[in-house]
Amino acid sequence: MKLGIIGAMQEEIALLTAQLEHSVTTETAGSVFYEGTLHQLPVVVVCSGVGKVNAALCVQILADLFHVTHIVNTGIAGSLDPQLDIGDIAVSIEAMYHDFLVGPFGYPRGQVPRMDVLAFPADPHLIALAQDACRSLQVPCRTGRIVSGDQFVCSDAVKQDIIDGCGGICVEMEGAAIAHAAYRNRIPFVILRAISDKANHTSELDYPTFETQAAHHCASITACLAQKLEEENR
Ligand code: ADE
Repeated sequence: MKLGIIGAMQEEIALLTAQLEHSVTTETAGSVFYEGTLHQLPVVVVCSGVGKVNAALCVQILADLFHVTHIVNTGIAGSLDPQLDIGDIAVSIEAMYHDFLVGPFGYPRGQVPRMDVLAFPADPHLIALAQDACRSLQVPCRTGRIVSGDQFVCSDAVKQDIIDGCGGICVEMEGAAIAHAAYRNRIPFVILRAISDKANHTSELDYPTFETQAAHHCASITACLAQKLEEENR
């Protein structure tokens, strides 16, 4: 078993790379891959960069060069669900794009033409471990669809349009691309996101205030998930 952990920004992986033991680094395609152990579990941690292409690239590298068997995406997100407050955790049941638009050819919003799914399903066991990690650390969490696009959502109108068109509990910029690439490689994945803002007119103020705190918070949950994965595979 080898767990790939992807965060888009340095703040999202900093706590994890600091905890790594026996760490060896490799630079590929402009990203540094940190290979080592986290709570004795073999892991590869990478900061992908922001957005769908950066994220998908890192999944393919984790698959081809590092042969990871599981993937976790850790980071922050804007809330779409009124019950998800700043600091709470969103766990993916599935992930889809909100900005994949091929409507003129009859495809629903988010559907990648000729893919057999609209939303890429997360791994049930990793979902359960993520929920368990939230319980252990006494952090409120909700599980549902996570939606992604190359857009920072900070307007009430855009947020409502995404909710109407896609549903979802939170919005961010990498999860669905990671899910898509993991799905094509048949690698089980889960997305974990701490809420940094409400994806509306308050985001421009809340995001810079809570960005680092939420990113570190999600990394702690991810470390706890890694520990649980190691314990059950001992
Ligand atoms: N990541 C954190 N907050 C976000 C938002 N409001 N939109 C997109 N990605 C985000």
